Amino acid sequence: MISVIVSGASGQLGKAFIERLSFQENYSVFSFDRRQLDIADHDKIGHILLTLPQAKYWINCAAYTKVDEAESNPHDARLYNTIAPGYIAAACREAGVHMIDFSSDYVYHSALRRPMKEDDPTEPKGVYARSKREGELAISSTGASHTILRTSWVYGPGGHNFVNTMLRLGRTKTHLRIVGDQLGAPTFTHDIVDAVKEIIHQDQSGNRASIQGTFNFANAGEVTWDNFARSIFSLSGIECTVESITTEEYGAPAPRPTYSVLNCEKISSLLAKPIPHWKDALQRYLDMI
Ligand SMILES: NC(=O)c1ccc[n+]([C@@H]2O[C@H](COP(=O)([O-])OP(=O)(O)OC[C@H]3O[C@@H](n4cnc5c(N)ncnc54)[C@H](OP(=O)(O)O)[C@@H]3O)[C@@H](O)[C@H]2O)c1
Repeated sequence: MISVIVSGASGQLGKAFIERLSFQENYSVFSFDRRQLDIADHDKIGHILLTLPQAKYWINCAAYTKVDEAESNPHDARLYNTIAPGYIAAACREAGVHMIDFSSDYVYHSALRRPMKEDDPTEPKGVYARSKREGELAISSTGASHTILRTSWVYGPGGHNFVNTMLRLGRTKTHLRIVGDQLGAPTFTHDIVDAVKEIIHQDQSGNRASIQGTFNFANAGEVTWDNFARSIFSLSGIECTVESITTEEYGAPAPRPTYSVLNCEKISSLLAKPIPHWKDALQRYLDMI
C-alpha cells in the first residue's frame, strides 16, 4: 500500500488527487484541506508526519494562487508559497518522506520564445511568480527528497479556472474580449495526477534518483487564451464571439509571460505514454462535466 498525504485538498488539483487516488486499491490517501491544516502551521505539519509514520509521499497542492491579489498581499504570497513549502520539506526530510510540490510556468518569464527547459534561467516577474520560485528554492535548500512539477494554465472539476469561467460567461454573454498575445499550454488536473502516479511508480520501482528535482509538466501543444476560448465554445456548442485584445488592454495587476510554453522532454522520459495534447484533454474534461 502506498500511503500519501495530500495538503490543499479542496483546491482544484487537490480535489483531482483525492478523486483519482482514493479509489485506487494500492493507495491510501490522507487528505487535509485548509481547515484541517494551514500549511504555515509548522508544528501541525510535524504532528501529522508523526501520527502517519506509514506516509511515503507528501503531495502539497496548497498555495496562494490569487496571482493579481498577490501584488497587494506579498506577505501572504510569501508565507504560503515560499515559507510554508519549506516547512513541509524540512519536516519531510526528518521523516524520510518524499515531497511533491507544484510550481508555475511564471517562474521563467522568458523572452526566449522557445519551449523552456528546466535549466533555462528563471526570471520571475511579479509577487506570485517570485514567491513560487523562492518556494522551489526553499524546498531544495532543505535537502529533502523532492519532485517539483512546473505546470501551466491549470483547470479541472470544481476549480476557479479559465475553462469554467468561459463556460459560465459564454452561456450568458454573446461577445467576450479575451487576451490574444499570450501563448501557453492549458493543463488538465487529471493529467497532472496521472503524471505524478507515474513518478511514484518510478520511485516504487527503485528509481528514486530519476524523480529528484524539477520537471516541467503541461499538456502538449500551445495556444493563446483567445483561441483556447474559441475551442471551449466550439466544443461545447456555445455561440459566443471572441474579440482578441492585448495583455496591455486587459490591464491585469500582475505581469504575465507572453510566451509560456514548457519543454516537457525531461518528464516524458519517465512516462509510459506521450503527454496528451491540450485539445484531447479539453475534450475529455468537457465530456466528463
Ligand atoms: N491554477 C493554475 O493555473 C496553476 C498554474 C501553474 C501552477 N499552479 C500551481 O498548482 C498548485 C495547485 O493550484 P490549484 O490550481 O489547485 O489552485 P487552487 O484551486 O487555488 O487551490 C489552492 C488551494 O490551496 C489552499 N490554501 C491556500 N492557502 C493555504 C494554507 N495556508 N493552508 C492550506 N491550504 C491553503 C486554498 O484554500 P482556499 O481556497 O480556502 O484559500 C485552495 O484550496 C499550486 O501550487 C499552484 O501554484 C497552478
